[in-house]
Amino acid sequence: MKPRRLDQILSNYGYCSRSEARLWVKGGRVLVDGIAADSANDKADPAKVFVDGAPIECPEGILALFHKPAGCVCSHGANEGQTVYDLLPARWSRCNPPVATVGRLDRDTTGVLLVTDNGALVQRWTSPKHKVAKVYEVTVNRDLEPRLVELFAAGTLMLEGEEKPCLPAKLEILGPREARLELVEGRYHQVKRMFESQGCEVVRLHRSRFGEFDLAGLAPGQWRLLPISQFL
Ligand code: URA
Repeated sequence: MKPRRLDQILSNYGYCSRSEARLWVKGGRVLVDGIAADSANDKADPAKVFVDGAPIECPEGILALFHKPAGCVCSHGANEGQTVYDLLPARWSRCNPPVATVGRLDRDTTGVLLVTDNGALVQRWTSPKHKVAKVYEVTVNRDLEPRLVELFAAGTLMLEGEEKPCLPAKLEILGPREARLELVEGRYHQVKRMFESQGCEVVRLHRSRFGEFDLAGLAPGQWRLLPISQFL
C-alpha cells in the first residue's frame, strides 16, 4: 500500500488523534517492519505498522457483515437512541473515511447489514443501476392474498408519492401471514410500503440476504469481517 505518515495512519484508522500519535511513537508503541518508529512524521505502508504489538486492523479498509438486531438505527444521529455503531468496535466510529452502513434498515428491522469505510462499495451496492438482490422475510397482520404474487411481479405497483412504479419483485407466500420478498431496489421503507399499499401492515421484517451475503451463523448483534480486497 502507498506509504503515509504514521500520525495520519493512526488517526485515519481510528486509533488515536494525531497529537496522541506523536506520544505513542515516542513511547515506543508503534513499530514499522518490526522496528520502533522514530517520528510520527515518518512514512510507512499501513500494512507494515504494528501498534501495541498488533498489526493495524484492516489496512485495506473495513468491510463487515453485521446481524442487525431490532432496536437500533442505521444513522449516526446522536438523538435517535441506540445506533448500529454502538454495537460495532468504537474505533470504527473514529475512522476517516467514516464507516457507514450499505443502505439502511429500519429500527425494528433485523438481519443482514454490511458496513464499510469504502464509499465506492457503498455506491456500488446501493446504486439502483447495479440491481443488488435483497431478500426479506415478512410477517403481516392479515392473511395474504395470492394475487399479490402477480401484482408485485408485474412492475406496475405505484407507491404513494413516487413517480415510477416498483421494479418487478418476487413474492413467495410461505404461510397465511408469512412471505419472502426479493427486491432489486432499496426505496425508503419499500417493503412496508409495498404491503401497506395492499392493506397489510408489516409486523416483522428480517433481511435474510443482501446480494451474495447471508447471515451464515451470525447471531443478532454479531459481526464478522469480510476480505475487502475480494470486492475492490
Ligand atoms: N423495507 C422496509 O420497509 N424497511 C426496511 O428496513 C428495509 C426495507
